Amino acid sequence: MLNDRVICIYLFLCFALFYGVCDNSTSQHDDGQYLFDFTKDGDVDVWQEQSDTVRDVGMSKAIFVIHKNVGFRRAIFFALLNPQLNGAGFAGIRAIQTYNLTGYTKLQIKCRGQGQFNGFKVTLRHKGLNDEPNYSFEQYFQAPKDDFAIRNLKFSEFKAYYRGKRVTNNELLDLSQVSSIGIQMYGGVYQPVKQKGPATLEIDWIRAV
Ligand SMILES: *[C@@H]1O[C@H](CO)[C@@H](O)[C@H](O)[C@H]1NC(C)=O
Ligand SMILES: *[C@@H]1O[C@H](CO)[C@@H](O)[C@H](O)[C@H]1NC(C)=O
Ligand SMILES: *[C@@H]1O[C@H](CO)[C@@H](O)[C@H](O)[C@H]1NC(C)=O
Repeated sequence: MLNDRVICIYLFLCFALFYGVCDNSTSQHDDGQYLFDFTKDGDVDVWQEQSDTVRDVGMSKAIFVIHKNVGFRRAIFFALLNPQLNGAGFAGIRAIQTYNLTGYTKLQIKCRGQGQFNGFKVTLRHKGLNDEPNYSFEQYFQAPKDDFAIRNLKFSEFKAYYRGKRVTNNELLDLSQVSSIGIQMYGGVYQPVKQKGPATLEIDWIRAV
């Protein structure tokens, strides 16, 4: 009787230890690769503004800053979008950084959007082709409005664009040589919904899983 109990407790401890070890290794694996973790030491200095003012008619503005108190730390993307009458315009930022994201299937961004409009897009470029006339690989998303939530952007859904217009070619994003990442609030000249005005996107982190 006593022996049975001892064996039971022993087995229970073995299982607890086994699953404990498994849990830790999976959670490390599931965490993926952080491109930026603003809750820790992620920096905004490597991000530069890239808004429509790079063109003659552009009138939009974006800035990216760290926001923190003793209890939290994150980054805020502030955008003011003043589009042309046809909806053309963008307010954005980008970081020229190289990543090998081979083996990951999606980009995750933990964020919250506030403002009249909350449509944003992530732009990725590869192989050091960080400027026009090369294409960018883009994906649109709606930011969660009330609570922070994770938005999942599958790498397979990043499509080639040139100046906001979809390019129908077969070029795929080379995940092994990602060379820049950008975030934009878009006017939506080729989109069903046109956006304008001020918006914020608060970001905890961006990672690949
Ligand atoms: C698993 O994580 C817990 C806390 O999260 C830690 O106390 C424990 O030492 C870890 N175990 C291993 C095997 O890393
Ligand atoms: C990217 O990582 C994969 C797997 O980790 C590796 O096989 C490949 O050689 C790497 N590519 C580059 C360009 O570093
Ligand atoms: C990228 O742009 C350069 C000019 O800056 C051009 O020579 C090259 O062909 C472009 N590559 C692609 C893949 O579009």
